[in-house]
Amino acid sequence: MTYESGKVDELLAGMSPAEKAGQLTQYFYFRLPPGAETEPALGLDVAEQPRAVEAALGRGEAGSLLFVTDPSEINRLQRLAVAGNPHGVPLLFGFDVIHGLRTIFPVPIAMAASWDPEIIERGQAVAGREARAVGIHWTFAPMVDIARDPRWGRIIEGAGEDPFLGAAVAAAQVRGFQSGGVIAGPKHFGGYGAALGGRDYDEVNLSDHELWNTYFPPFRAAVEAGAGNVMTAYMDLNGIPATASHWLFTEVLRELWGFDGFVVSDANAVRNLVTHGYARDLAEAGARAVTAGVDMEMAIGDPAYAHLPGAVSEEVLDTRARKVLEAKARLGLFDDPYVDEDRARETLADPAHRVAAREAARRSAVLLRNEGGLLPLAKSGSVAVLGPLADSRRDTLGPWVFDFDLDETVTVLDGIRDAAGNTATITYAPGIPVGQRTFPSMFDMFGRNAPADPEGFDAEAEFARAVEVAAAADVAVVVLGEWQNMIGEAASRSSLELPGRQLELLQAVVATGTPTVLLVMNGRPLDLRWAAEHVPAILDIWYPGTQGGAAVADLLFGDVSPSGKLPFTWPRTVGQIPMIYSHTVSHEPDNQARRYWDEESTPLFPFGHGLSYGRFAYRDLTIEQADGVATVAVEVANEAEREAAEVVQLYLHQRHGTASRPVRELKGFQRLVLPAGSSHRVEFTIGEEHRRYWNAAVRDWVLDAATFDVWVGGSSTAELGGTFSIDK
Ligand code: GLC
Repeated sequence: MTYESGKVDELLAGMSPAEKAGQLTQYFYFRLPPGAETEPALGLDVAEQPRAVEAALGRGEAGSLLFVTDPSEINRLQRLAVAGNPHGVPLLFGFDVIHGLRTIFPVPIAMAASWDPEIIERGQAVAGREARAVGIHWTFAPMVDIARDPRWGRIIEGAGEDPFLGAAVAAAQVRGFQSGGVIAGPKHFGGYGAALGGRDYDEVNLSDHELWNTYFPPFRAAVEAGAGNVMTAYMDLNGIPATASHWLFTEVLRELWGFDGFVVSDANAVRNLVTHGYARDLAEAGARAVTAGVDMEMAIGDPAYAHLPGAVSEEVLDTRARKVLEAKARLGLFDDPYVDEDRARETLADPAHRVAAREAARRSAVLLRNEGGLLPLAKSGSVAVLGPLADSRRDTLGPWVFDFDLDETVTVLDGIRDAAGNTATITYAPGIPVGQRTFPSMFDMFGRNAPADPEGFDAEAEFARAVEVAAAADVAVVVLGEWQNMIGEAASRSSLELPGRQLELLQAVVATGTPTVLLVMNGRPLDLRWAAEHVPAILDIWYPGTQGGAAVADLLFGDVSPSGKLPFTWPRTVGQIPMIYSHTVSHEPDNQARRYWDEESTPLFPFGHGLSYGRFAYRDLTIEQADGVATVAVEVANEAEREAAEVVQLYLHQRHGTASRPVRELKGFQRLVLPAGSSHRVEFTIGEEHRRYWNAAVRDWVLDAATFDVWVGGSSTAELGGTFSIDK
């Protein structure tokens, strides 16, 4: 029997204000590993906290928990909750299932680099199935924040700089998660990625022009895809804490976009309205957040929402509690709130999930450079595999993972050995210590399985040995980048350099004369100026997940061709930031490439860039128009002797109108698999939705009668183009 939402009224009628406020309260429930460091930033007492939460369950004053992933623990806590309130209202369990629960997929920026909504949806459907199977009902994902400053560590969690790509990725993730059985919760509304100086949690100041045209579209796409939840952002947006913004959560999200799910604050973000110097105390903080439209408070402890009774009307409590109770009803929790623990184990062990993770990693890698066709490699001769990240299972998974199976994680070294160990001589040397960043990560309390150097690791001797191994090999594969705790939340950086002596190691390896392949393990663009000049082959493998090493070997040895494309502009140096491809023409565009006197103002690699083992030709572009819609068609041929996939991209420029418009903007893309020697005619339509933009002069959406340029190609530097005019 499905719980009719009409019965929510009956429930509400029988609830006290304290019980309603309890439904609006979500607690962290930490069962940290024995000996885990208390989390200083959160003032967490790892012993007391679970007891306090269980007491709240017993009083019927908690509506949801997060950070519980064990099905038997979930059932135990669910029984406590159901018994703890006279109405038998069950808990909603939420968690950060960002790129997988047990089967870990490539990090989100890598999935975005596939430019493939199908594999993105497939991956999040697997994540959703695994999450629901253990009893998690709701994921705090996708993170859809546009990021244009790679110093900001959370660039790794999103889909990069572009609103069109970001919107497509956001919708695909929401479809995937919700088809897997969990509520998707796009976050962090809104504008979080524009943190001042790239410093996570710092204020954001964005014009309406930037919000409507760049930062909001992925959220709107997620809402239109049916997301059941939205999460607030920590920071001040234009002087108002996002978590207390009535404009964001009532006027835009609900009244303009028609969102009918529920809103949750970010962790402690309601209590922190006092810290922001916005609310005078917890009662006011709670009242202002709940009045703004924030249905549920995510709290470490001592929730502000406990003060709601007496601080707000019963009508406000009912409005907010209804949203939460309806979400529980839609999930069927009133019919059966418990999880089948046997089914959980079966689902987590499903081999099809690992197959999907390997395919996702294959499609995410971006071939940045391949001079002289060094790649793909032969599975013969002698191969040196260098750099500690090549053999670090924990780093291969990337950040924002908690419930992984380290033993089944395939590193780059594992993958190369499995693929070529019987036909080639594979020698590994780390060359440098497993680096750690200079201050503890907020996630170190979960930092189990952080890689460690063997006892007595002699850095100088190991460096020399790595160079000797390289000199003796037919080819050197060097894996460099950032350790996984150097990026992500609260992991901003003031530079983009390769940490530690990694560049020094790379230079020494190249100096041996052995042909060198650089594999980059990263989540942000790094300073690869030297490598882009001196290393013939560079493949960005990101943090490729549970099956990452197997996929990397598939790509290295040519079983499959790389097909990923950059979801952001890759700067030469941190001094160029922010740098985007979709800038306006502005003043004296002829010297756009030399705006600095000390450095080019062009990217190292452009947005949408990615090479292939195929050889693609674009020809015969045609444009047909009817009823204000332009249909652009182009022939794409693969002139190589092997199959390869290509992401065909369409860019649009409006030559004149009632605002200065970007030199070009992504307005279409399609991923094609082209057998050797084959071709395909690709069609794109450009309708009003592609031409409409928010205009700061009239402060509204406009469509200009204008002449438009279009280009179609394999990156944002596409040259094959045409024009068309719209007269009204
Ligand atoms: C974190 C993050 C948010 C996450 C939440 C729960 O601080 O900002 O993205 O979902 O807390 O872990």
